[in-house]
Amino acid sequence: MKKLDCQSASEIIIFGALGDLSRRKLLPALYQLEVCGLINEQSTIVGVARPTHSLDEFKAIVVDSLKSFVKEAIDQEVLARFIARLVYQQLDMKDADAYKGLATTLAKGNDTRIYYFSTPPAIYGDICHGLDHANLISAKDRVVMEKPIGHCLASSKVINDQVARFFKEQQIYRIDHYLGKETVLNLLVLRFANSLFTTNWDRNSIDHVQITVAESVGIEGRWGFYDEAGQMRDMIQNHLLQILSLLAMEPPADLSAESIRAEKLKAVKALCPIDRTNIKEKTVRGQYADGFLNGIAVPGYLNEEGANTDSKTETFVAIKAEIDNWRWSGVPFYLRTGKRMPAKHSEIVVHFKAQPHNIFKDSYSDLPANKLTIRLQPDEGVELQMMNKIPGIATQMNIQENKLDLSFNETYKNQRVIDAYERLMLEILNGNQSLFVSRDEVEAAWTWADSIIDAWQSTNEAPKPYAAGSWGPVSSISLIARDDRQWVE
Ligand code: BG6
Repeated sequence: MKKLDCQSASEIIIFGALGDLSRRKLLPALYQLEVCGLINEQSTIVGVARPTHSLDEFKAIVVDSLKSFVKEAIDQEVLARFIARLVYQQLDMKDADAYKGLATTLAKGNDTRIYYFSTPPAIYGDICHGLDHANLISAKDRVVMEKPIGHCLASSKVINDQVARFFKEQQIYRIDHYLGKETVLNLLVLRFANSLFTTNWDRNSIDHVQITVAESVGIEGRWGFYDEAGQMRDMIQNHLLQILSLLAMEPPADLSAESIRAEKLKAVKALCPIDRTNIKEKTVRGQYADGFLNGIAVPGYLNEEGANTDSKTETFVAIKAEIDNWRWSGVPFYLRTGKRMPAKHSEIVVHFKAQPHNIFKDSYSDLPANKLTIRLQPDEGVELQMMNKIPGIATQMNIQENKLDLSFNETYKNQRVIDAYERLMLEILNGNQSLFVSRDEVEAAWTWADSIIDAWQSTNEAPKPYAAGSWGPVSSISLIARDDRQWVE
């Protein structure tokens, strides 16, 4: 097994270091890498933000964040090592001249600089300009960009262009945190390390695929951002299309960024367009209304704090996606994602084709087809539903459905499930772009999503209401029932 080395020295500079993402995810992920000894001894972590803080105050904020967001007990020795790496830089990120101050803080050595933009994308351009103005960009530096990259194809191009003026594509790491999830990465292993699936992974063996990403949370005080985005931009354009592309892509020649990203891109580009001509038949938009979650009353979207009461933003989307290529012709990928659904529950279910002929009619008039279930979260795992003979002499040839269970928590009992950001941070330190989204992919995904959003706007219809705590509008059941299929609940 290839062992990961301690990375070469780098300076990790987090813009927006006091923000929610940094405190909840980035700093805890770096701390976990410290626990594993995966950060080079010489590396420093520079927090950049607008408020004035002393270094001690910044360290106290970081310790507090780790205590709140690291699930395991904090190791004091590791913490001391981690804290010793911290530096704080107050900065007005829009003021190019102010970056001279950052220049005096950053080391003058040969370390690779990793600029992590954990800020609204609207200021990515300003940050790049400021860095350039202070002579802080060199060919070996890397830049990390968080989603959303734009609101549509045109605005994503503006952001990508602004950054591309200063950094080459090989230096840019666009984060989609789903690509760092263990279970999402496991798709590559399932598909390409098991001949059982490599050879049965196409229209000849697979009937259809369902991808569900359900969340029980509402919009959690993010009304301003979310109402502009909606579930299509917030989840489908990125996370669900990333899952779909890993499921649908052709086998890459190897695990390199070039090979993987090229195949994923082809899959997204092969998605059949959904536009004004077929929008009603292929999609459903919903918006949660008042309802109950675990027996507790929760407000509908329009009754959330700060809500614009005539908003037509969708909080639920179901789509029948089809891929126009040799492998997937005639195999629908049903996507479904929403807020305020009954539980946090994300899974992929691959439905194989039924046997052409049934010799077990005494047990089953319709022989159930095999199903591969990949639970992304929580309760991560993989299950293959198969038919089995019930043992015993009394019965003739009695059979039943059984599950071959590969659940993570059973197979790897004492293994901590690592957070997606830990994996992604490590890959950034390693300079490996395979788990990051290329510009071409972002643009292909926007092209597909924009056409759907445009078609919805043309109808001017409000999204269909669904009670909070339910699985979405009734029409999402009809979307799949029209094809004689049903969602796996
Ligand atoms: C984010 C979305 O990208 O992903 C959020 O902006 C969503 O709205 C979140 O809640 C879901 O991530 P996870 O890892 O909890 O499934």
